[in-house]
Amino acid sequence: MKYDRINNDLFTRNRKKLVARMKPRSVAIVHSNDIMPTNADGYMGFMQNSNLFYLTGVDQEESIVLIAPDFPDEELREVLFLRETNEEISIWEGHKLTKGEGLETSGISNVKWNTEFEKVFYTILAECDNIYLESNEHIRSASLVETKNTRFIRACQAQYPLYNYERLFPILQDLRCVKSQVEIDLLQQACAITEKGFRRILKFVKPGVMEYEVEAEYLHEFVRNRSKGFAYEPIIGGGGNSCVLHYLNNNEELKDGDILLMDVGAEYANYNADMTRTIPVNGKFSDRQRQVYNAVLRVKNAATDLLNPGNRIPEYHAEIGKIMEKELVDLGLITMDDIKNETPERPAYKKYFMHGTSHHLGIDVHDVASIYKVFEPGMVFTVEPGIYIPEENIGVRIEDDIVITEDGHINLMKNIPIEAEEIEEIMHQ
Ligand code: GLY
Ligand code: MN
Ligand code: MN
Repeated sequence: MKYDRINNDLFTRNRKKLVARMKPRSVAIVHSNDIMPTNADGYMGFMQNSNLFYLTGVDQEESIVLIAPDFPDEELREVLFLRETNEEISIWEGHKLTKGEGLETSGISNVKWNTEFEKVFYTILAECDNIYLESNEHIRSASLVETKNTRFIRACQAQYPLYNYERLFPILQDLRCVKSQVEIDLLQQACAITEKGFRRILKFVKPGVMEYEVEAEYLHEFVRNRSKGFAYEPIIGGGGNSCVLHYLNNNEELKDGDILLMDVGAEYANYNADMTRTIPVNGKFSDRQRQVYNAVLRVKNAATDLLNPGNRIPEYHAEIGKIMEKELVDLGLITMDDIKNETPERPAYKKYFMHGTSHHLGIDVHDVASIYKVFEPGMVFTVEPGIYIPEENIGVRIEDDIVITEDGHINLMKNIPIEAEEIEEIMHQ
């Protein structure tokens, strides 16, 4: 791993929180993700299962955690299973976690090789009635690809049909959406790395530069600061490309007089930053670009003020819709008549602002949480309004990452330049 080792207290506390929500006579099992194939004999880089990481800190393939809180033999209440290495693996792939390193990483003292899993699981089941298994139930998950955990659900239910099966996902999403201070510090680190990237490109962007060159500058700055790289596919769109919400080609030249929208964040230790900044390619916003930019910034600031304990996503989004509508009227983009004729399904602002304002952020970029859960201290949200006007080649989005606190919120991106004049000043230095 490129990141500094995380104190295993975090994962020990996370397991305790899970255990407090499990029924008596239960066992929970979470597997790591598969290494996903590409073509021929190719593979993608490894991406750990977020729930296994949350419970163990283990960032290695073919790992399993077993948690059986009231199993009579204390030794077997928590077991971490790891891939046993050998000479061939160490020649071709390098170092794998030893049992001692498994303990140091996770705080779990009983570490076994994963070849022992079936035997231990069978032993545990003799004293259990409930089996908690992991599945991806993210509200927007649309993947057709089966995970190792999904295959395990099928195999387990076929082999042990008379047990009661429980879903881990609702418990873990409820725990994960409230972050501990250590997690907030890791998110802050991801934001600090993202800031370095942004400050670097402010000095780099000028007419004639290619979008992919900007992408390369970010990646270089992220990786040299111990990040694995981008937290998600970066969106770097100049001119009309700034209006394409999921623009990923990043292959065009930046033109004098155009705007450049960059939705880019660094990963750090599996935690993610999610930033958007919009800047003028030539270092100076036109009057119209500045008008639109400041409108989006006002909405972002107003939305941030609503990220307080007690609010909820549905009411929050409805309120921001009203704030955005006023700005769009002032920009001459929609009329009061449009607002009068709108329906709840089709509000007038959606013509120029088609996405949500906030999502949870954490080990996943669109982190897991019920959208109906009342905001509470420790939750981390993005705030990311935008106005997209393809007929004017102006798309502006501004996105910060915000932690809810007892009496309000703190902005993890407060040091990242955001005022139009500040951005212009740095670009001209
Ligand atoms: N970068 C993804 C998002 O802003 O939600
Ligand atoms: Mn984003
Ligand atoms: Mn976002």
